[in-house]
Amino acid sequence: MPEYLPPPALCDLSAQPCAIKSALADVQRRLATTQALARIGDWTLERDSARTTWSPELFRMFERPLEWGAPDVNEISAYLSSESLERTRETFWHAIDSGERLTLEHEVVLPSGARRHQLTVIVPVADADGRVFMLYGTVQDITERKAIEAERMQHMARVAELSRRLMEVGEHERRQLAAALHDRSSPNLAALKLIFANISRALPASMDDELGLLLDDAKALLADTDMGIREICATLRPATLDYAGLAPAIREYASQVARHSHTAVELDLDERTAALPPELQTLLFRITQEALTNCTKHASATLVRVSLHCVAGQIRLQVCDDGCGFDPAQLGKVDGVTPGLGLITMRERAELAGGHFQMRSAPGNGTVIEVDLPAPTCKC
Ligand SMILES: Nc1ncnc2c1ncn2[C@@H]1O[C@H](COP(=O)(O)OP(=O)(O)O)[C@@H](O)[C@H]1O
Ligand SMILES: [Mg+2]
Repeated sequence: MPEYLPPPALCDLSAQPCAIKSALADVQRRLATTQALARIGDWTLERDSARTTWSPELFRMFERPLEWGAPDVNEISAYLSSESLERTRETFWHAIDSGERLTLEHEVVLPSGARRHQLTVIVPVADADGRVFMLYGTVQDITERKAIEAERMQHMARVAELSRRLMEVGEHERRQLAAALHDRSSPNLAALKLIFANISRALPASMDDELGLLLDDAKALLADTDMGIREICATLRPATLDYAGLAPAIREYASQVARHSHTAVELDLDERTAALPPELQTLLFRITQEALTNCTKHASATLVRVSLHCVAGQIRLQVCDDGCGFDPAQLGKVDGVTPGLGLITMRERAELAGGHFQMRSAPGNGTVIEVDLPAPTCKC
């Protein structure tokens, strides 16, 4: 517990009385100026007698005439707003019972009707037996700071809402684009396949050598185009996510990644995640998709492990590769290289959903992406 020390000028008994007086007056003047500038007042409260002292700045902060003297405990309570009264009382009693230094934010209603936010620091002073016999501390006016804080919180909430809306709109547009691409191309590709099959059947054996090979090439091109469009549609918005849920959608995307790269993908996926709210499944899918894309684009990994687990209302997604890794501190610092938005978007998606995003990487040591999300409705 901190010791209560009188001001140093009062201890210097060897000094001349007039010098002491002038030093004291100087200290008091400087203290009053400092308190007025900082809008901090100080107080003391004796436990047994309930006697209080207030510094002049406190009188000003509470719009209390100096000649009224420091208020008693009941008068102090009358300044507190009804929302702050009980909590303030409890905190003072807690400081007395525990002997702990405490801080407390509360609201007061001044005689003019103005409401002000204040921060009070309470320091208990105990005797040799450990019994608290007095309290002292400070009161600081934090109204402006609270207002700025509230404005900042509102601003952040607006930005978060905007980001959420942007993501929803993005997801909606991807879905529309995938549907349009599929609807426009799928019937034509199917018709072309039938036409090629009919031509094959109708082709006289004498023309087989000449046209048969060309026809085989055309069929292979058609199959490749069909597969390409399917993959683009699945990347834009996998229908599997809507029909079967997160784990099958990740499996589908992982096999696409393995097909097109030299990276093997090992999966350990909790099927119960199919019961998660659709927007959470979409979010986890998009993070996995970006992490896997990064593995093929940047990591030159031979193996990527994706694990998705749901434990006690908490989901953990981990994407871990054995690739080249990188130094996260160097992101955006390499001249001529504009960093992408993938990592930032992954973090933003996770944090907007109330989750936590972590990335660990080092050159030569692979990369780990970890996302923890609250999923209160998850029955796991
Ligand atoms: N798995 C990874 N392995 C190696 N480097 C990575 C990996 N993931 C990200 N990076 C590095 O971080 C950078 C930023 O990634 P990201 O934000 O997804 O943007 P982009 O993929 O568009 O470059 C990449 O350009 C790359 O240098
Ligand atoms: Mg990327």
